[in-house]
Amino acid sequence: MRVLVVGSGGREHAICQALAKSKRVTEIVCCPGNAGIASMNVEGKKISCEKIGAMEFEKLVSFAKDTKVDFTVIGMDDPLVGGIVDEFEKAGLKVFGPRKNAAILEGSKAFSKDLMKKYNIPTAGYETFDDASKALAYLETAKMPIVLKADGLALGKGVLICNTLEEAKAGVKEIMLDKKFGSAGNHMVVEEFMTGREVSVLSFVDGNTIQIMSSAQDHKRAKDGDTGLNTGGMGTFSPSPFYTKEVDEFCKANIYQKTVDAMKSEGREFKGVIFFGLMLTEEGPKVLEYNARFGDPEAQVVLPRMKNDILDVMEACVDGTLDQLTLEFEDNAAVCVVLASEGYPVSYEKGFPITGFEKFDNENYFCFHAGTAFGENGEIVTNGGRVLGITAKGSDLKSARAEAYKATEWIDFKNKYKRNDIGKAIDEA
Ligand code: AMP
Ligand code: GLY
Repeated sequence: MRVLVVGSGGREHAICQALAKSKRVTEIVCCPGNAGIASMNVEGKKISCEKIGAMEFEKLVSFAKDTKVDFTVIGMDDPLVGGIVDEFEKAGLKVFGPRKNAAILEGSKAFSKDLMKKYNIPTAGYETFDDASKALAYLETAKMPIVLKADGLALGKGVLICNTLEEAKAGVKEIMLDKKFGSAGNHMVVEEFMTGREVSVLSFVDGNTIQIMSSAQDHKRAKDGDTGLNTGGMGTFSPSPFYTKEVDEFCKANIYQKTVDAMKSEGREFKGVIFFGLMLTEEGPKVLEYNARFGDPEAQVVLPRMKNDILDVMEACVDGTLDQLTLEFEDNAAVCVVLASEGYPVSYEKGFPITGFEKFDNENYFCFHAGTAFGENGEIVTNGGRVLGITAKGSDLKSARAEAYKATEWIDFKNKYKRNDIGKAIDEA
């Protein structure tokens, strides 16, 4: 089978790596992909990248039809929220991911909060506003700290945690008046501040059935000790030792299936991946956010541990037969440490040659590319803030962490930056 993957990050590299293990997949083409995906070398598989952007729906559909793509996987949020799945389906193409009317689960925070309220799914208390003066008046009497969220997609950066009324007022100005996050700030959610550990749970969904993958935890802040600015994610580990049997049972009873059923009741049948961003509060697990796709860099620790043929699972989601499968994960652990460009997420230089890829075996050590490109002489160079995701597996979390940090030393490029405390929480478990 010829499979098309849409996206260009470390997540898409992890998806391609998982697809390359499928017996039925003979060809993978990634649009637009990156230097790491283009360099994949798996026996018996033809793997390449094509320079078509993830938002160029018409071109992607024509390419899929002209080159006889059998199955397409959409990795990124922007094209999903923009309705790429509907376009592929209209052309009679088989595609994995939610339609536009279901991707709104990620695309609008106001929608997802209203859904949770209506169907009694545990989440932080909130109000929504489309008028800055009403939001400001509300904040005068609200309890601090408080959380402000731009309604639409904002590259994971549209969330402000405000400790004082002054900060909150400035935040409303940034989001709703100065439009720092663009039209995502036309509507805003003001949410109660919660405390607790965060867990990411990814799941496969076929419209009716939901199957949970092994849990993970991300590290969103740029610097050690969870300080510095929010990023796309600086590292992950899987499984999370804090995702206990009790937490799992609670979420199964109160969150997962209820979300799938709620979407169906609203006439927005969800097929694809639902990512549950959970916070384990003193009152029990609550939903922080939903995403309509694999997490990045969660996919880089969860997918290498999955035993199933990913194509079988994805097809079952599209066909509505997920109830006939059992998801299986290796009884081990994985840690991913992101190698970024110094200065990320604010400003950084690019174009530096990267060396040291040789030792990664794609069995226990993986080097997932995110911001990389080919230089003038065909060498691989840095091309973004998050450059590589270095994943290692181990028999337990501690050994996986030691192996992942060891492997970060194999790689060299100018201005290489990483956090040194990915997985530190493991020691407290
Ligand atoms: P989100 O994009 O909604 O996941 O928010 C990004 C990050 O902001 C989350 O991973 C949390 O660390 C933090 N956050 C979001 N909502 C809340 C909340 N209600 N209380 C405390 N922290 C939050
Ligand atoms: N790692 C968080 C996300 O993918 O949104």
